[in-house]
Amino acid sequence: MSDELNLGLDGVLVTESSLSHVDGETGRLIYRGYAIEDLAREASFEEVLYLLWHGELPDADALSSFEDALADERPIDDDVVETLRALAAADETPMAALRTATSMLSAYEPEHPDPEDLDASLRQGRRITAKMPTILAAYDRLRDGDEPIEPRDDLGHAANFLYMRDGEEPDEVAVETLDQALTLHADHGLNASTFTTVVVSSTLADVYNAITAGIGALAGPLHGGANQDVMDILLEIDDSDLDPREWVEEAIDEGRRIPGFGHRVYQVKDPRALILEERSAELADSTGDDRWYDYAKTIEDYLTDEVGLVEKGIAPNVDFYSGSVYYQLGMPADMYTPIFVMSRVGGWLAHALEYRENNRIIRPRARYVGETDAEFVPIDQR
Ligand code: ACO
Repeated sequence: MSDELNLGLDGVLVTESSLSHVDGETGRLIYRGYAIEDLAREASFEEVLYLLWHGELPDADALSSFEDALADERPIDDDVVETLRALAAADETPMAALRTATSMLSAYEPEHPDPEDLDASLRQGRRITAKMPTILAAYDRLRDGDEPIEPRDDLGHAANFLYMRDGEEPDEVAVETLDQALTLHADHGLNASTFTTVVVSSTLADVYNAITAGIGALAGPLHGGANQDVMDILLEIDDSDLDPREWVEEAIDEGRRIPGFGHRVYQVKDPRALILEERSAELADSTGDDRWYDYAKTIEDYLTDEVGLVEKGIAPNVDFYSGSVYYQLGMPADMYTPIFVMSRVGGWLAHALEYRENNRIIRPRARYVGETDAEFVPIDQR
């Protein structure tokens, strides 16, 4: 047993996986061998979920049955809606509301399989995945004082989410953009939230426990929470008297970390950021308001050319342009991380079940550095 400390488990191999691979030096990401660029441009999010969960891309018949199965599972119980109403009244964040509602879904789960039954666990995970957009869209409406809109079963995953949130059929650009963003976020190796999900699942706890824990891990600003932080800084710039270049100069002088920059694995620009940057620029062109794209691009150029962050391996990550993309789709900033969950749940489930095929409970160690011979003092003498 090695006594070498490995803070953050940096580079520690704990399992084998055929789900996704990140090459941080060349900036290449693949899901089951397929380049993320091809999947984002050519496949729907449903095809990507099928690929992650079933190991291959579906043919047309398999995809159609899979889409139907997901669409059938979209409705949520009235009690879940009432809980969301109470959470909205208490001003809970959408991320916390999604965590609470996901956990609550287990009460309405029709199957309570043996933990070793991976097919049934996959069906449970599919139900959660199908219902997450319904929960989120309902929550976003309820906190605005609007009633939830029932899901439709004739729309795709992305389109139906936008429809349930806005109450009208979304335009093609919005659907395509969201669908692509969902694909780009669906899996990313053994990142913090995926590892969390796998750790919980390795105890043979069910997928409700595992996925609820994954949401908790993704909430933090060093992980999924960074996309909201990026939009917050773009809004901060818009509100200030500074132009984006002055703002970022000042932020760096103050030693601030710029959200959306830096990644534990990538040394170069994240391939997902390259695609989202294109989408952000296209949305800016189509709306005629290029502020959000322009601010982000100016910050990126400054940090790259003047500060030399990219040379130090600190480059834009997936969150850097996703914020401005979602903002241009009309999403409030606190919905970005929950939308990330809507997608990453696909990867969480795939990894949790893949690990279960050769399960061993995950149990690392801490080096004990505390006192060893403390003398016990009874409470009345302390
Ligand atoms: N802005 C400015 N400087 C940075 C940034 C940043 N965003 N990120 C890292 N650095 C600097 C650090 O100050 C440090 O400099 P130093 O060596 O002079 O002290 C150096 O780069 C290394 O930083 P670490 O924190 O050690 O890098 P680590 O790999 O542990 O952290 C992390 C990666 C947490 C993502 C970090 O880059 C960060 O805080 N980024 C901002 C938050 C963010 O965007 N998170 C989303 C990640 S992607 C995702 O989870 C979906």
